[in-house]
Amino acid sequence: MKKILTGLQPTGIITLGNYIGAIKQMIKYQDIYDSYLFIADLHSITIPQDPQELASNIKSLLALYLACGIDPKKNKIFIQSENEYHANISWLLECNTYYGELSRMTQFKDKSQKNANFTSGLLTYPVLMAADILTYDVDYVAVGLDQKQHVELARDIAIRFNKKFGDTFKIPEPLMTEEGTKIMDLVEPTKKMSKSSENQKGVIRLLDDPNTIRKKIMGATTDSDMEIKFDVVNKPGISNLINIYASLTNKKINEVEELFIGKNYGELKKNVADIVIEELSTIQKKYYDIINSDELNKILDNGIEFTRKIAKNKFELMKNKMGLHR
Ligand code: TYM
Repeated sequence: MKKILTGLQPTGIITLGNYIGAIKQMIKYQDIYDSYLFIADLHSITIPQDPQELASNIKSLLALYLACGIDPKKNKIFIQSENEYHANISWLLECNTYYGELSRMTQFKDKSQKNANFTSGLLTYPVLMAADILTYDVDYVAVGLDQKQHVELARDIAIRFNKKFGDTFKIPEPLMTEEGTKIMDLVEPTKKMSKSSENQKGVIRLLDDPNTIRKKIMGATTDSDMEIKFDVVNKPGISNLINIYASLTNKKINEVEELFIGKNYGELKKNVADIVIEELSTIQKKYYDIINSDELNKILDNGIEFTRKIAKNKFELMKNKMGLHR
């Protein structure tokens, strides 16, 4: 059976972009692939976090995974920091990764420019991500477009390690949806919809209430043209709304364009808002039902027991190959 993996950072309530780019894909494939889904808390501390808020976000993210439709029987669900081997494996990989490779990563360049006083964790972040992926010999990594470069780096690191020390890792592939690979900010549709965006009007979070969602979508930036057509360069706002609609209704972009021939922008926005509200209301109802359930701890206990064994074996194998033994 093929294996698939992904992780999301517990930095605040996740966005519609995270849902479409990563979670919906995991739900789609959980029936056919051996699935690993974790909470990337070690990645989130590459920028400062309030400890209390972080702990609460970790729990909340787990409840959201389940509320979205992630089946704990079909997924190994765990917290990254509970599996100490990820950081250990990351160190062994770091010593096989070049500074030049890491400093060329787009995300590193963006984030380090925004805050000159960045931590070294921000630079080595993609190596930890490579450790998360390579530990489990997965075939696929479900990600949005913004993380594709990091998965490609994980491939390069794995190929290099295999060449140097003999076959150790499977070479993974990024798995992205055609439509949902990049959901854009509603106010500035040339920018990715991001949790850390300064203007929250452009960002839909999974726990936003229906009124807020409708206001944000009705206020989305469009253009002065009248045609509902997918054209990312000239009509980024409209293309983003078409993309969201297509992703949530499992339709192709051209099917959505056909559906809205002769309609105006207001009608498109109203329909997108209806679809988003319907999808998120179901998720929210489930979320509030389970957020305080004991079940959450049991799921994490099972997940960590299973994944720690695999990670320990991979760590030992790497150490042996590298000569780190008596
Ligand atoms: P994070 O937490 O930034 O994002 C989680 C997932 O959501 C996707 N995503 C988007 N997809 C479409 N449109 C958007 N606007 C959008 N914004 C975010 C991201 O591509 C990602 O798939 N480093 C990772 C977490 C991670 C990881 C891993 C992922 C750690 N280890 C190993 C895969 C495999 C991150 O920060 O994702």
